[in-house]
Order: sequence, then C-alpha cells, then structure tokens
Amino acid sequence: MQQSVAITPGRANSTRFVEIPDAPAPGSGEVRVRVLDVGIDGTDMELIAGHFGSPPPGSEFLVIGHECLGVIEQTGAGVALRPGDFVAAMVRRPDDCANCRAGSSDLCTTMKYTERGITSAHGFLTSHYTDRAEFVVRIPPELRSIGVMTEPWSVAAKAQRHAWEIQRRMIWSPTRALVMGAGSLGLLAAFLLRLRGLEVSVFSREPADSSRAKLLECAGVRYLTSLESKPGGEYDFVFEATGAPQLVIAGLERLRASGVMVVLGTGHDREPRPLALGPIATRLMINNQVLFGSVNSNRRDFEQTVVDLGEMERRWPGLIGAMFTRRAPFARFADVLQRGEEDIKVAIEVGA
Ligand code: BGC
Ligand code: ZN
Repeated sequence: MQQSVAITPGRANSTRFVEIPDAPAPGSGEVRVRVLDVGIDGTDMELIAGHFGSPPPGSEFLVIGHECLGVIEQTGAGVALRPGDFVAAMVRRPDDCANCRAGSSDLCTTMKYTERGITSAHGFLTSHYTDRAEFVVRIPPELRSIGVMTEPWSVAAKAQRHAWEIQRRMIWSPTRALVMGAGSLGLLAAFLLRLRGLEVSVFSREPADSSRAKLLECAGVRYLTSLESKPGGEYDFVFEATGAPQLVIAGLERLRASGVMVVLGTGHDREPRPLALGPIATRLMINNQVLFGSVNSNRRDFEQTVVDLGEMERRWPGLIGAMFTRRAPFARFADVLQRGEEDIKVAIEVGA
C-alpha cells in the first residue's frame, strides 16, 4: 500500500492521508513513475474547500495533486522512455469524442473525460503511479528543479496558442498584452507573453513593492495596481487569471478593436453576477472582439512548455525557481494548506 493525500469531494477541509494499493508494474505501453514534486494551485484550494471534484467510481475519496514531476522507474514493452528519465504528467484522460481521439482531450465535447487529481481519477500526491506513456512528457535533467511548473505553464501556453489561432481570422500584429491577476498562473502567463515578444502589463491588488511585482519586473513586465481606462482600449490580448469573475468586464473595456480576451482564472465561481449585457454585447460586436474560455492543455502544449522553460532559464536564469516561496516535505503536507499572502508557488517534495 502507499500513503497518499486525499479529500472527500464536496466536503470542506476533509484533507487526510489514506492508503491506496501500490502502483502496478507497467504493462505494454505503460510506465511506472516515482513522484518527486507536486505543485499546489488554486484548483487544489477549491477542491479542498469542497467546491468541486469527484472521486473515482467506487471510491469515497479522491487523491489530489495534478501538477507532477516524477522519474521513470520501470517501463513496459514498446516505450521509448527509459528508467531515470524525468517526466511531467498530463492531467486529462480522454473519452472517445473526435477531439479526444485526435489528441485534444482538452477540447473534449462529451465532457466525459477524467482528470487525475480532480475529476473521477486519483492524482499524484502519492509515492508512485502507473500510466500510459503517452500521458507523460520527458523533461530534460537541466529542468529538474522547475519541472513541476510544466503543467501550469502548459495551461497558459494553450490559452495563448488558442488566442493566436483565433486571430488568424485577420491580419493581427499584437504588441501589448494585459494579464489580470498575479497568482502563479498570472506570473507564468506574463513570462510566457514576454517570451513571445510582447510588452506585458500585469494588473493585481498586491502592492507594487511585493515580491511578485519584483519578479515580474525582472522580466521587464509592468506592474499595475490600478487600471486606467484609455478610450479605444490599449491591449491586443487580455489574459484573465484572477479568480475574480467581476474583472472580466474591466478586461474587455481595455481591449483594442479586434482584440481577444481569454478567461481562465475565474475558477469554479457559480454565483450569478448581475450585469448589463447590452453594452457588452454591443462593444464586442462593434469592435469585432472575441471573448473565450480556456481550460487544460494537451501534449503539444506540454512539448512547447519544455522548449519555453528552457528558454526562460537562458533569458532569466532562476526566475521561475524564485516563484517557489515554499517547498514542504510530504509528511508536512498540512502546513502547505496554510497559504500566506506572500506565497506564490508551493510545492510538495514527495520523493527525492
Ligand atoms: C488544471 C487543468 C484542469 C483544470 C480544471 C486546472 O488547475 O491545471 O489541467 O483542466 O484545473 O479541472
Ligand atoms: Zn472527448
């Protein structure tokens, strides 16, 4: 049996250690992975607060943890990966719609996918897991210390890729981006957009002398604690990463004509928020603007992420690593749940 961290989905603060069966020896096309680092994000906090999540069929608990760097221990037949290779795990496991079959389960249309550590499948806060090799992506050894950022970066990379694909509808040369929110996703999105050559501003409520603002400034990002309104808008692309749905309108109001805005930090907020839809609809129409949502990522985004994180280390060495304000050993998992204001990214060191 192996010790794991689990919740009872839907019940607040039910986090506890449970035992699950050992990860089986890998069959053909499979790998057995020892877990090294697991990152904690806003989704985990929502799971722990009981807002959403579901256990695997037949289980009353869900092992959490969906941002995972591990090391291959054993491989089944027909697998190109080798023991000792570092790997990041993908989160979603496909259903069988056309998108899932084409390798884009992030765009599943039946919504009957599972997500490890979130929806109907156990996650990675455990010592080992066995999975099909196509759901893990090799991480070069030089990225070992920040490899656990692969999954969250891939989520930002997918959102950016989709925005650019949408804009192939026209001649579009984006120069200015606004990221709303300076949580870990906001920071990663801002760095990613800098790598793509944009001028980037981040708007958030933390003071301008906060450590997150300083990290952003290292990469030449402008940090804003208030948003001005310029007539006609200022930004070609707005990336919402706040957890505060009411800011969606503030983002749209700062979008240039023909710009695009993506919503993905808003979280699982289901509160109805009254708003006057008329002016928003008119604004979108008159300006040919696009507002879209984005969730999860696929293999292609993970592979792009490996390239991007390597590039980050060359351009701003140590900057991603500096986002880890806390690393806790597995046994002290509970400490991690007390997140302070200064915490940017927290990781659990499950194995070494
Ligand atoms: C994960 C995604 C997942 C989403 C919704 C996020 O925190 O990074 O991979 O699809 O939560 O469950
Ligand atoms: Zn599907």
